[in-house]
Amino acid sequence: MQNLKYLNKFLWNYRNSLIIGGLFILIANLFALYPAEFVRKAFDFVSENISKDSNSNSVIYFTLIKYSALIISFALLKGLFMFFMRQTIIVMSRKIEFDLKNEIYNQYQNLSISFYNKNKTGDLMNRISEDVTRVRMYLGPAIMYGINTTILFYLVISKMMSVSHKLTLYVLIPLPILACLIYIVSTKINKKSERVQEQLSALTTISQETFSGIKIIKSFNNEKNSWLMFLKACKQYTSKQINLVKIEAIFFPLIVTMIGMSTIFIIYVGGMESYSGNITTGNIAEFIIYVNMLAWPVASLGWITSIIQRAAASQKRINNFLLKKPEIKNKSKNNSKIEGDLHFKNVSFIHNDTKIKALNKINFVIKEGESLGIFGKTGSGKSTIANLVCRLYDPNRGKISLGDKDLKDLNLYNLRSSIGYVPQDGYLFSGAISENISFSSNKKTDQEIINASKKAEIFDEITNFSQGYNTIIGERGVKLSGGQRQRLAIARTFYKNPDLYIFDDCLSAVDAKKEQKILRNLKKLTKRKTSILISHRISTIKHCDNIIVLNNGEIVERGSHEDLIQKKGIYYKINETQNNSI
Ligand SMILES: Nc1ncnc2c1ncn2[C@@H]1O[C@H](COP(=O)(O)OP(=O)(O)OP(=O)(O)O)[C@@H](O)[C@H]1O
Ligand SMILES: [Mg+2]
Repeated sequence: MQNLKYLNKFLWNYRNSLIIGGLFILIANLFALYPAEFVRKAFDFVSENISKDSNSNSVIYFTLIKYSALIISFALLKGLFMFFMRQTIIVMSRKIEFDLKNEIYNQYQNLSISFYNKNKTGDLMNRISEDVTRVRMYLGPAIMYGINTTILFYLVISKMMSVSHKLTLYVLIPLPILACLIYIVSTKINKKSERVQEQLSALTTISQETFSGIKIIKSFNNEKNSWLMFLKACKQYTSKQINLVKIEAIFFPLIVTMIGMSTIFIIYVGGMESYSGNITTGNIAEFIIYVNMLAWPVASLGWITSIIQRAAASQKRINNFLLKKPEIKNKSKNNSKIEGDLHFKNVSFIHNDTKIKALNKINFVIKEGESLGIFGKTGSGKSTIANLVCRLYDPNRGKISLGDKDLKDLNLYNLRSSIGYVPQDGYLFSGAISENISFSSNKKTDQEIINASKKAEIFDEITNFSQGYNTIIGERGVKLSGGQRQRLAIARTFYKNPDLYIFDDCLSAVDAKKEQKILRNLKKLTKRKTSILISHRISTIKHCDNIIVLNNGEIVERGSHEDLIQKKGIYYKINETQNNSI
């Protein structure tokens, strides 16, 4: 229950709907209550007049018509107010669901990359869909039926007591037993559906991984294996689901049995009471209706409890993410100027989960407007430097500063808007080419999209597509070649027109001629801008003002291309092999 407290702020926001909904429930219940009294009156009227002269036949007839009309109109009015009740409370729960989903989504976006390293996508998706749905069941049906049960109980039991204390007592005996049994059954349903839910998460993750990696699966002829994995998870899901259905099947017969027992009590005890003249036969009919009215609310007590338990478990999982603080914090609300030299002082970085030391005591300065080439073999820590500059991670030791300020003290959003980062995998979004290029802002003109694509040397290919810039590139850009994807990612960055460029090995699939053209375009753009070029290929970084060579997270050589060649170290050797292989 503690976990559900988080939702109170939403309930407070929609308090008017809740109060009005409560009123509708009260009115609907009043209309539900009186028909029982009309039935009793009709019964009693008939039994009083049945033995009288034949004139009374028409009186009985009209009285019965009158009561029937009253019962029908009250039922209609009850229906109307129940409609209003759903319109207020269920609609409220949908609105809160909307707010909650948005809150979770925004929180996901705020959380740092390290959070995504730890959690599976299937899990994140389930929390925003399945878990929120269960929480909505608490906010809507559980609250609605909770209020309904309370009001109905109060009204019906007071009515019953006013007729006969003894009969009321007998009628109520099976009900607590019913509530307890239903609670036990619901708890079992709960646990089992929890397992179904977990299995569903696993199933989602398997399917999602399969479809994202479909090319690999096909080229490795691995369809059968992945299907067997899916089949195994699916079988477990089905058997867990069947377990759940078996328990659920007990639910309804249990209720019907208990109602039946109460009805037997009424007929037996009520018959005796009526025989003794304490109550009328009409009262017996009235009581049977009351019992039926009470049965569902009593049953729903168990059901509501189980919904609340499930919602609490779901909200606990949601809170687990919602209350997490992003590791990368924005300390400054003011606009920060992003300018000056970029300085790494003794920077070390260890990946939290794997404890891999990706960088060790890195020192370098990039003067404003100059370029730095980062060279090194795979896994040497090149992308980690790029990630630290973008503040996707913060260093464990040492300091990164821009101008005279620590990177951590700058406004995070200003910093990221000033950086044009082309990541190694150049992720693209499904949608049109133009949407991908103008990802950073939709305020600029179409001409700027064209200019960016020209600078990224992809203009000709785009214009050759029959749909041009409106070509839909599919999920992650599946309809493009590797080199086209890389250049589109570069165009996206050129369009952004940032102050600091970071190219992380994003020319690896581009041919040498186009690579040099793109680099020349970049150089023209970055005359007064800072740039970082990361690559395995010397041809990409040789024109940089300064180059650092990384090995196992440490700088092993530094200097300009010419300096490094003269040093005859690792850089020189690799240069020789790369030149020879061309
Ligand atoms: N998310 C992560 N969690 C744990 N360790 C990581 C993570 N990302 C990278 N590493 C580790 O950090 C080290 C440096 O990785 P980095 O990505 O910086 O290498 P790189 O020089 O860019 O390599 P490449 O040329 O292959 O792109 C590697 O040993 C890698 O295994
Ligand atoms: Mg890398």
